[in-house]
Amino acid sequence: MRRCAVFAAVPLLAILGMLVEAGAGTKGKKMKAGIQKQAFGKTAEGPAVDLYTLTNANGMMTKITNYGGIVTELHTADRNGKIENVVLGFDNLKDYLVRHPYFGAIIGRVGNRIAKASFTLDGKEYKLAANNGPNTLHGGEKGFDRVVWKAEPSENADGVALKLSYLSPDGEEGFPGNLTTTVVYTITNRNELKIEYTATTDKATPVNLTQHNYFNLATPKAGTVLDHELMIAADSYTPTDNALIPTGEIKPVKDTPLDFNTPMTLGARIEQVKGDPGGYDHNYVIRGGGKGLVLAARVYEPKTGRAMEVHTTEPAIQLYTGNFLNGKEKGLDGVVYRKHYGFCLETQHYPDAVHHANFPSIILRPGKTYTQTTVYRFSAK
Ligand code: GLA
Repeated sequence: MRRCAVFAAVPLLAILGMLVEAGAGTKGKKMKAGIQKQAFGKTAEGPAVDLYTLTNANGMMTKITNYGGIVTELHTADRNGKIENVVLGFDNLKDYLVRHPYFGAIIGRVGNRIAKASFTLDGKEYKLAANNGPNTLHGGEKGFDRVVWKAEPSENADGVALKLSYLSPDGEEGFPGNLTTTVVYTITNRNELKIEYTATTDKATPVNLTQHNYFNLATPKAGTVLDHELMIAADSYTPTDNALIPTGEIKPVKDTPLDFNTPMTLGARIEQVKGDPGGYDHNYVIRGGGKGLVLAARVYEPKTGRAMEVHTTEPAIQLYTGNFLNGKEKGLDGVVYRKHYGFCLETQHYPDAVHHANFPSIILRPGKTYTQTTVYRFSAK
């Protein structure tokens, strides 16, 4: 029998969840915060997965599944208080089980690319899956975006949270060490999507976690994101070869189409960005990044007035303008996701850091704890 709206695991939260009024999002109306849990289907290996709906006191809402820690929907207010979904995603598990462009997922154990699908650590060579030409992308064949996480809903003074945990076994996807990972998603009462990561290991291993939401602040049905205005607080970036593997250089963005210090639409200079497919897919070095929570980027969508700020403790951020989207995926509301229908701002350490001693290290050793906090703050004006 298909389970639906199962609240058993979180009775108190469920009651609060049920208090969320229908027609959420009317301007000025105070919403009741809460979490609801419902069945989302089963993976091929068997485990049942759930979909959690987290709503804050202002009616901001997100849906997150413990399959891949995927944010399937994120609803925020426009300048008239209209609450709509601003991320690309699917409304059913089946579509996530086939390969998709990492919509909304937690990425690990190592985000972005590792050249030649191998690395050497403490004198030992490790072989990984080559799932992107000869290179490894986003953790390999079965990265953290394709595993089932343990989920624990909670509420605190900050907002409504979902804690996800996953133990990545020693040798998984070729990486050394049992990696105990937690990711806490919180929808705060300040209209933020906060993501806090931790990881510990019993053998030295590279770790570079991120989250792969594709945003479209005008809602995905509105088309491309090229009218969005972007600011990135970065003076330099890490140039890559044609396969998007860093050359090891760190170059200034000044006088290039990559410079977003002065806010500029994504579309203004995108044609000048070389590559196949064309568009932004670049790792920016955040000014003052890596030392504490700092502002990394700000986005404004003029038609709806929605704005988003990204604050992070990570040293870098990948701007990706959905260049590989090609109309293959049909998502929420029947929208066909075409090139540039969403953009990602993935907070991270630099891609392929395992091969570049001049990049901040991503090696986690036993006894140390990897931590990352990233906050996506929403507003409208
Ligand atoms: C990241 C990469 C892109 C692409 C997408 C997924 O953003 O930088 O090159 O692989 O993920 O399609």
